[in-house]
Amino acid sequence: MNILVIGSGGREHAIIWKLKQSKHIKKIFCIPGNGGISQIAECAKIDILDFKKISEFVINNKVDITVVGPELPLSEGIVDYFKTKKLDIFGPDKKSSQLEASKVFAKRFMKKYNIPTASFEVFNKCEDAIKYLNTPPEVDSCVIKADGLAAGKGVFVCNTRTEAEEAIKKIMLDKVFGDAGKEVIIEEKLRGLEVSLIAFCDGKTILPLIQSQDHKRVNDLDKGPNTGGMGAYAPVKIVNSKDIKKIFDNFLNGIKSESLNFKGIIYAGIMLTGAGPKVLEFNVRFGDPETQAILPLLKTDLLDLIILTIDGNLDACKIKYNEGYCVSVVITSGGYPGKYEVGKEIYGISNVEDAVVFHSGTKYENKKYYTNGGRVLNVSAVDSSLENAIIKVYESIKVIKFENMHFRKDIAKKGLSGGLTI
Ligand code: AMP
Ligand code: GLY
Repeated sequence: MNILVIGSGGREHAIIWKLKQSKHIKKIFCIPGNGGISQIAECAKIDILDFKKISEFVINNKVDITVVGPELPLSEGIVDYFKTKKLDIFGPDKKSSQLEASKVFAKRFMKKYNIPTASFEVFNKCEDAIKYLNTPPEVDSCVIKADGLAAGKGVFVCNTRTEAEEAIKKIMLDKVFGDAGKEVIIEEKLRGLEVSLIAFCDGKTILPLIQSQDHKRVNDLDKGPNTGGMGAYAPVKIVNSKDIKKIFDNFLNGIKSESLNFKGIIYAGIMLTGAGPKVLEFNVRFGDPETQAILPLLKTDLLDLIILTIDGNLDACKIKYNEGYCVSVVITSGGYPGKYEVGKEIYGISNVEDAVVFHSGTKYENKKYYTNGGRVLNVSAVDSSLENAIIKVYESIKVIKFENMHFRKDIAKKGLSGGLTI
């Protein structure tokens, strides 16, 4: 089969790397790809929101299935467009993608279908939101969220009312996220361990992958601003299987009742609180960097899972894994998630022996790699013990160099301190 993957990050590099191991693969294309992806797939520079051009590319290149990496084309309706052209595509349609594209939609869905989540209120007027903060019993710590897609920056975890008020004003008056900030959610602040639950969903059956844990803050010990994710490891066992089943059974009931055509990946970001697991958010695609820690452990043919999902046959499937742990560390440009420079030459990638390097933001020119984004590389190492996977990944990073490179030194350390297995 010929497969097209849409996207340009480490997640897409890992998906393509894994798809290349499939027994069904003839050729893999990527739109638009990056420096690393261009070494293993044929890349085409097409705007990922130009569905007409993408569908023409698919027809001209006899692509059998298109796999969508990022959320934006999904929420803009690429799946609906492909359906009108009778082209096979992996991902939920526009209506279902609101589970990620609108936090208000997602929270109301969770409430309606009894999926445990933080308590919340929705506001479409700035003064009403601020009045709510100042009404007894006044909220001293809460979370403010812009409704729409904001590249992972639309969530403000606040410690004081002043911080919360500033966040609301930023979103609703300064409109820093544009229309994504037309509505805000004021949410109860939860405490607990976070875990990513990523699952295949064919509309009738949900097949969860192993649990993984992301590291969202830019610096060690979870300090500094939130990022797209600085590293992940798998497997962890933070949520027990009974609770996972309950969350996903209620999710399935919800999508059926709302007539949502959900075929693809459902990702639940969970916090394990004293009162049990609560869903912080849904994403409708693979996590980045969780995918870079999960796929190196996956034994089952990824393309089989994709085909079973599209055909609605997941009920007959069981996912198999290799033994051991995978730790994936993200290397970023200095300054990320704030301002950073690009175009720095990257040295040493080909000297990495004990790990696989997935590219996030790189370009390849004149046989050299250059930085081309905030998150630049992911280094993923597998070993039978978590301790050794951590040692391997950090030994491998030692041979990679570029100006102002930054990475966390404590990825997966939480997994060593215990408490992550039930
Ligand atoms: P989200 O995009 O909703 O997952 O939020 C991004 C990050 O903000 C999460 O990974 C959490 O670390 C944090 N967060 C979101 N909602 C809450 C909440 N209700 N309580 C505490 N932290 C939260
Ligand atoms: N790792 C967080 C995300 O993919 O949204």
